[in-house]
Amino acid sequence: MIIAIDGTLASGKGTIARQLSAEYGLPYMDTGQLYRLTGLIALAAEVDFDDAQALADIAESLNFQGYTDDELRTAEVGQAASKVAAVPEVRAALLNLQRRFALQPGGAVLDGRDIGTVICPEADVKLWIDASVEARALRRWKELVSKGETLTLDEMISQLKERDERDKSRKDAPMVAAADAVLIDTTHLSIDAAVDKARAVVEAALAKKPTPSGD
Ligand code: DC
Repeated sequence: MIIAIDGTLASGKGTIARQLSAEYGLPYMDTGQLYRLTGLIALAAEVDFDDAQALADIAESLNFQGYTDDELRTAEVGQAASKVAAVPEVRAALLNLQRRFALQPGGAVLDGRDIGTVICPEADVKLWIDASVEARALRRWKELVSKGETLTLDEMISQLKERDERDKSRKDAPMVAAADAVLIDTTHLSIDAAVDKARAVVEAALAKKPTPSGD
C-alpha cells in the first residue's frame, strides 16, 4: 500500500506520516529532507541559487551521512530548500529516487508537496494536510525557538507566507492537493485526533483494496 501525504509546512503531515508508517509497518520517506539537504549543501558551498545545473548536481549525489536533523530543520535551510525546490532540474534529479522508494514491494509512506500529484499519482491513499497560517507558524516557531533560534513569531509568519507562495506558484510540480486527495485541516485538532482521521482514510482504502488471493 502506498500512502501519499502532502500539505503545507508545519501542518502536521510529518507527524501523521511517521505514525502511519509505524502502525502499518511501512517504510517512510520525508521527501522535504531531500530538498533541505540540497539547500544546505548549496548554502555551505556558496553555490549560486540561479545555477540550476550546479544545484541539480548536488541533488543527484545526496548523502545524508554526517548531517543532523537539527541542521536540516533550521529556518535558513527551509528557505534554501524552498528555493531549490522551484528549480525543475533539481526536481528531475530527485524524481527517480522517490519513485523507487514508493514502488518498493509492500509499499511505503511518503510525505511532501507533490507525492500524490507527480511522484506517485497511483498511490492507494492520498492525504492533503493543512492548517491556518497562524497555527502553522506558531507550531514551527515554538520548535525553532526551543532549538535556540531567535526569530520572532511575526518573522515566522511572513517567512511561512513567502514559502507557501513560492511552493504554490512554481511552474514545476506546484504545491497543490491532488483532485482525489482527502483533506484534513489540523488547525483545531490534537495530534491524536489528526492521526485518527488519517487512519480512518487508510482503513477505508484497505477495506476497498482487493486481497492478494482475490477474495
Ligand atoms: O516539508 P519541508 O518543509 O521539509 O520541505 C522543504 C521544502 O521542500 C519546501 O519549501 C517545499 C519543498 N518540497 C517540495 O517542493 N516537494 C516535496 N515533495 C517536498 C518538499
